[in-house]
Amino acid sequence: MHVNAKTDIYGIIGHPIGHSLSPFIHNAAFESVNLNSVYVSFDVHEENLKDAILGIKALGIKGINVTVPHKENVMKYLDYISDEAKLIGAVNTIKNNNGILEGYNTDVTGFTESLKEHDIVVEGKNAVILGAGGAARAVAVGLSLTGVKSIMIANRSKEKARNLSNYIKNNLGINCIDVTYDDLNELEEIDILVNATSVGMSPNINLSPVDENVVVKAKFVYDIIYNPEKTLFLSYAEKHKIRNLNGFDMLINQANHSFKIWTGVNFNKNIILNILKKKDFVK
Ligand code: ATR
Repeated sequence: MHVNAKTDIYGIIGHPIGHSLSPFIHNAAFESVNLNSVYVSFDVHEENLKDAILGIKALGIKGINVTVPHKENVMKYLDYISDEAKLIGAVNTIKNNNGILEGYNTDVTGFTESLKEHDIVVEGKNAVILGAGGAARAVAVGLSLTGVKSIMIANRSKEKARNLSNYIKNNLGINCIDVTYDDLNELEEIDILVNATSVGMSPNINLSPVDENVVVKAKFVYDIIYNPEKTLFLSYAEKHKIRNLNGFDMLINQANHSFKIWTGVNFNKNIILNILKKKDFVK
């Protein structure tokens, strides 16, 4: 990689940020389309968020991804918010358009595209989402926009589950209720079961958000976690030969949408996957 006086700067802000795969994805992508650009991580604490955003303008940084915990708070510092990001209430992509900071959300399309790529039908299905944080919100909005029939949201904090289910009901008109993890034991069948919590993520790979007896009720199981590749939650699905998907495609797809917003072109997903495989990030 050549860095010189003309190199454009992109990056990601979040906290913590150490384990993000985004720098590898975007730097490989810039190289693959011959752009003189570089992508770096910025560990930004809550109290420095405003200064960090002002810094984008001051330093002429071209684009920024936003991750936990800043996706909601960042919105108030931007000059424009896309309709989709407004609907979701979160921004994960900022484009510096000649000094105007534009906020977008590519998590939702990243998620729905991954379902489409694997021919998963959402229309008319009943879904259960585990978790009620930012990722769960993107999943719930994505399922709602692709014609899901109903959604149940189970979360450790009951209040957050209630808030998210009300949000989906009121803003997307979907039959959405909050339930407890215990309630899931009473269900007979689940069309689509999505883990949108961080439970089972490396290094806590021996944890699953629900027991095997809940997973076996599902016809399709999705874990938005991609590290490890196969969480304990997904291994239950695998054991019972239930179709399942991890979060890797969602990650690559949202990155590709951000890349398009910034550069006007998409990267070739397979080229990037091969580069990541060579670096041992993907099996
Ligand atoms: P993200 O943007 O990745 O969704 P988040 O907004 O911090 O991150 O949400 C994390 C989700 O994982 C939440 O649903 C959280 O549950 P709470 O709302 O009750 O905190 C869930 N989560 C994290 N650790 C958990 C644990 N040990 N047990 C159960 N749920 C957990």
